[in-house]
Parts: sequence; structure tokens; C-alpha cells
Amino acid sequence: GIDVGKLLSSTGHVTLDQGFMNTAACTSAITYIDGDAGILRYRGYPIEQLAEGASFLEVSYLLIYGQLPTATQVEEFGNRIRLHTLLHEEMRRFFDGFPRDAHPMAVLSSAVSALSTFYQDSLDPFDPEQVEMSTVRLIAKVPTIASYAHKKSIGQPLMYPDNRLGYVENFLRMTFGVPTADYELDPVFVKALDLLLTLHADHEQNCSTSTVRMVGSSQANLFASVSAGVNALFGPLHGGANQAVLEMLQQIHDSGDDVDAFVRRVKNKEAGIRLMGFGHRVYKNYDPRAMIIKKTAQEVLGRTQNADPLLDIAIKLEEVALADDFFVSRKLYPNVDFYTGLIYKAMGFPPQLFTVLFALGRLPGWIAQWREMMADPTTKIGRPRQIYVGEPERKFVPMASR
Ligand code: ACO
Repeated sequence: GIDVGKLLSSTGHVTLDQGFMNTAACTSAITYIDGDAGILRYRGYPIEQLAEGASFLEVSYLLIYGQLPTATQVEEFGNRIRLHTLLHEEMRRFFDGFPRDAHPMAVLSSAVSALSTFYQDSLDPFDPEQVEMSTVRLIAKVPTIASYAHKKSIGQPLMYPDNRLGYVENFLRMTFGVPTADYELDPVFVKALDLLLTLHADHEQNCSTSTVRMVGSSQANLFASVSAGVNALFGPLHGGANQAVLEMLQQIHDSGDDVDAFVRRVKNKEAGIRLMGFGHRVYKNYDPRAMIIKKTAQEVLGRTQNADPLLDIAIKLEEVALADDFFVSRKLYPNVDFYTGLIYKAMGFPPQLFTVLFALGRLPGWIAQWREMMADPTTKIGRPRQIYVGEPERKFVPMASR
């Protein structure tokens, strides 16, 4: 029975804004979004141009340090990361303790949290050298942790990093390679994964990034703050949608490929059925990332031996929805997740790993936002207010009288 708006609390006016629909919690110079126009820019550069011309490592550098790197700078950055791709051997054994069927996001968040125990020399959030060291360690070690989590779940031996390879190449080899054979990298897959990571690299104050900032606002170290972000991303309303899209497409396929019938069910709001991968809290236009990904989906899926019938269903669904007043009037357009699951599937990633790939992409954004907050002298500890709706003062009742 409470309206959103200005309410009087015991200590003055407090604004109730559930879900932070209309409340900014910080200022930021990192990412700009205009949801009505479908614009996304990192540090002022349009996402389309970055997707076309920059690698994921360049984009990570841009987000974290504010400028596009020169060739020398990005090489140095890559070399610094290479030095830290190994996990401490004791940390490697940490993976043995998890049950084999554990979700890799749960393993990832635990392992990122454990970095605070293994790398105690880079925990001070106000020592620039330590912040730099924890930044590099995170970017270097998260792919290793992610692929270890995957190997553990399928019962294969863990693969050590091969530092002759680039960032994405190394991750693909650690994930899909085995010690008994050479791993042949497919350049189309390397390019596609690099692009997908780039497109996920930051998205201003989404749930996981806000979580990283909130935890960091208590001056918790970068590893602790980022592991909280991983946990926020674990939720199906945030990082899990790409898996849901794939399940929806499979369901349509299994029930006879009748796209029109499915769209009718969505429009009738049958049992809360939604067109997964459509709609966005901020974008009321085509998500610019979805536009870029669609092309890649066609490239990657054309690569696999048997064209995936789910891609045809996705394309048909999009055509039908974009011509239908139900979706048009509600400004429901494809979001970034509409095609990503299909690409990951074609590359051989199991659905459980999709959210981990999202985390790998979002990592530089979390780091950049945490660093921006820590460097801002006006930062305050995050502490929302509340509107108390419980009992008024009551007199305590002794046990014997209850
Ligand atoms: N399919 C069908 N109808 C939809 C969809 C959809 N995907 N999304 C919204 N609607 C309808 C709602 O039923 C509602 O209609 P109504 O006015 O008749 O009641 C209207 O559009 C507004 O929807 P809200 O839920 O109020 O919009 P909100 O901004 O809160 O939700 C969200 C955004 C959660 C992304 C929603 O569009 C959705 O559930 N989409 C599907 C899940 C998805 O793809 N999530 C990934 C988001 S991107 C990301 O996290 C990286």
C-alpha cells in the first residue's frame, strides 16, 4: 500500500525507488547509454566502432585507464597479464573440493573470493601499485579459473595456460584442449569470442556493477568486490537470460517449429510466457549490441557443419515480432542475449558456461568502475534508506505470558 515517491520517514524526506528506476548512485565517466536512441559508448567511443576495430584487451585498457592504448601500451598490458595467468598451485587444489556437478558460476565466485587469501600483497584499495597488481591478476587469472571450473565439471584434467597464445586463444585452449593432443584454434571462433567479450565489457550501473561498487564502497578489496559482482551476475534475471533464449528456441523447435503459434502464446501472456531475449530496462530501441551480434551469429553458425535450425527460428521470431504491434507498441526489440547463446552453443560451450563467459567479458567494466569509485574523494559508503512498515513500539511480553 505504499506509493513510490516522496515519503516522510522519522528523519525527514526519503525517496522510495525500488529497483533504482530513477535514482543515480554515482557519477561516472566510463559508459554512456541512450536507451531511446539505442546508443552505447565506452569512454565516448561508439560500441560499433570498438567492435569493428579494437580487441577485447584494447577495450579493457580503454575502460580501465580511460584512453585507447597505443600498440606499445597494449603489448605491455598483454605481457603483464601473461605473467600472471597461472594460479598458485595450492589454489589449483582448491578446485578438488567442489562437487563435480557444481555450477561453474558458484565455483568462479568462490575462487575469485579466494584470490584475497592467496594474493595478500595486492589488497590495499588505496595503494596504486597494489590496485594495479590486483587488476592485472584478475584479468589474467579469471580465464584460468573459468576453464578450470569447466574442466572440473566434465572430469577432464585441468589445462595450464600457454603464454605463447593471445588472451582469447589461451582461454579457448584451456577450455577445449586436452593434454594429449594439439588444440587447433578456429580463427572465426577466436574473433567471435573476442567480439562477444568486448560487447559485454561494461554497461554502466547494472545489477552486478552496482554490487561491485556497493561492496567496494566499504573499502573492501578488488577481489572481494568482484566476487560479489560475479554472484550478482549468477541470477537468472541478469546473467542467465542467454541460456533461457536457447531453451525457448529449443522448445519451439521440439514442438514443430511453429513460430507464429509461439508468438500468439506470448501475446496472450499465457502462463507468463515472454519472448526471451527481447526487451530491456534501458533500451527502448534495438540494443546496439544485438545488431552487431546478429552478423557474427550468421558467420559462426555458417561455420559449423550442420546449420543450426535454432538460428532460423531466431531469425523468423525476430521478423515476426518486429512486424507485430504488440512488440512495437511496447518498444520490445532484441537485446544482447537474443543471439549470444546460439553463438556459444555453436562454439561448443555448454549452457552452464554461458554466464561465466558473460562474467569474463564484464570483468574490465567491474574493475574500471571500482577503480573510478576508489579514486573519487567524494565517495561515500553505500547505505540506502528504508521506509519502515513494521509494528509500532510494543511492550515486551515475558515467555510465561505469551
Ligand atoms: N516478451 C513479451 N512481453 C514483454 C517482454 C518480452 N520479452 N518484455 C516486456 N514485455 C511486456 C510486458 O508484459 C509489459 O506488457 P504490459 O504493459 O502489457 O504489462 C511491457 O512489455 C513492459 O514490460 P516490463 O516487464 O515492465 O519491462 P521491464 O523494463 O521491467 O523489463 C526485461 C525488462 C526484464 C528485460 C523484460 O523485457 C524481459 O523480461 N525480457 C525477457 C528476458 C530477457 O531477455 N532479459 C535479458 C535482458 S538484457 C541483459 O540482462 C543483459
